[in-house]
Amino acid sequence: MASAGNERFNNEAADWDKNPSVQEGARLAFDALKPTIQSLSEQKQKSTGRGLNVLEVGCGTGLLTLRVAPLVESIVALDPAHGMIDALKAKIKNSGTSDDSGGPREGNVVPICQLLTDPEDSLLPPDNMNDPAGRRRKFDLILSHLVMHHVPDLRPFLETLLGSLTPGGRVFLTDFEDFGPEAIKFHPPTKLAGVERHGIPRSWIEDLLKEVGFQDVKVSVGWTLTKSIAAWEGSQPGDTFGFPFLVCEGMRP
Ligand SMILES: C[S@@+](CC[C@H](N)C(=O)[O-])C[C@H]1O[C@@H](n2cnc3c(N)ncnc32)[C@H](O)[C@@H]1O
Repeated sequence: MASAGNERFNNEAADWDKNPSVQEGARLAFDALKPTIQSLSEQKQKSTGRGLNVLEVGCGTGLLTLRVAPLVESIVALDPAHGMIDALKAKIKNSGTSDDSGGPREGNVVPICQLLTDPEDSLLPPDNMNDPAGRRRKFDLILSHLVMHHVPDLRPFLETLLGSLTPGGRVFLTDFEDFGPEAIKFHPPTKLAGVERHGIPRSWIEDLLKEVGFQDVKVSVGWTLTKSIAAWEGSQPGDTFGFPFLVCEGMRP
């Protein structure tokens, strides 16, 4: 998968987790997401006795994935950059497997290097393990964090997510908001490769989710991430800015 974005993320993967604002962003995303996971899990446990099947697209090194894993039945973690997936695989290997709530269980996290463009992609796990070539797994919940600003065309991206959900399944997609011209400062000028837009315009993504076919669409500011903008011309060392993050939710009818 050769693209400027992939090259950038392959190169950055080894040091990705050393960036404090990346760590803080994943922590804030998990804090915002946790009540949704708890309430969906409770509903599914009551009706089926099973936990949630989750898909994360653009998982990177798994900063969000590995927080979510102990709360769900399984999480398939996709990223098109092999460097990111290799870093996630190494973390899973080093953590071993556990059956308490402290980390991933055997087979609970499924890292896959792939750009998902088809809900029936053969790299996804099968819906029925006894029919390995059959229909692919559909998910109760699909996550992405800090990914949508890298996606060239969000309509097919959202259509693929919609087609990858179970009926009643939900998306929980988080990314920084395009709140105006200063949103460009989210990335330092040296890290603009693969950036397709400087944040997500709130009413635009709300309309797009509805047009694509999601129901119960809700887009709101979930939190603000304060990060350094010192690399921008005119800024001083130590200058920071608060970037609002959107939580974009919707359900497959
Ligand atoms: C800013 S990083 C965020 C990684 C991770 N979610 C985190 O918060 O640490 C964006 C990730 O999205 C992946 N990515 C880029 N374009 C993508 C696309 N079109 N679909 C899915 N993932 C993509 C990149 O490879 C990269 O790992």
